[in-house]
Amino acid sequence: MEISAGTDPFELFQTWFDEAVTAEINDPDAIALASVNADGMPSVRMVLLRQWSEDGFLFFTNYQSRKSGELLATGKAAFCMHWKSLRKQVRVTGQVGKATAAQSDAYFNSRGRGSQIGAWASAQSQPLGSRAELMAQVEAHDKKFPDAVTRPPHWGGFCLVPEEIEFWADGEHRLHDRFRFTRADSGWDIQRLNP
Ligand SMILES: Cc1cc2nc3c(=O)[nH]c(=O)nc-3n(C[C@H](O)[C@H](O)[C@H](O)COP(=O)(O)O)c2cc1C
Repeated sequence: MEISAGTDPFELFQTWFDEAVTAEINDPDAIALASVNADGMPSVRMVLLRQWSEDGFLFFTNYQSRKSGELLATGKAAFCMHWKSLRKQVRVTGQVGKATAAQSDAYFNSRGRGSQIGAWASAQSQPLGSRAELMAQVEAHDKKFPDAVTRPPHWGGFCLVPEEIEFWADGEHRLHDRFRFTRADSGWDIQRLNP
């Protein structure tokens, strides 16, 4: 099936995402997020894409994690989404920086208490001696916050401002449809690509 790119990548992204929400059995919002270290060595992991608008794509994590160190040092990121049941892929590349404190607070406050305590308890990406050590941290923070849990200073969002967004749809005989949107002075340049 030939796809139509339209002129607005966020509109197309929303259409595909809405389809994925009904088609995928879980995590339609999972993205493979790539960062790169000072030597140019990439690393990639899944995170959940929680919000997006024309201002950028937002995900949330521990600011002291490996990914955060690399994202903050380079200011660059890319992600890829693959919706298996739709046979569609989206790739995004751009500049990345911390989300605002208000955005991070709003998202943190929307999470369940267990996840909020987990954000305090886990020194993400650091070595851990035993599962028991982690559970002791959970218990300690559970006691520390008998009522509302405030957002840890080491936890929050990132906003990836896209410079390139590519949409890929499976085609017969591997003759897939690809459209690349590249940010231009005003709006987007749109290019159809060979599969
Ligand atoms: C489907 C899925 C969703 C995930 N979502 C998040 C997320 O939103 N934020 C996060 O910090 N880690 C998330 N993780 C865990 C990360 O993949 C990763 O293990 C963790 O962030 C540490 O990565 P780092 O050491 O490269 O910083 C998710 C894992 C999976 C499989």
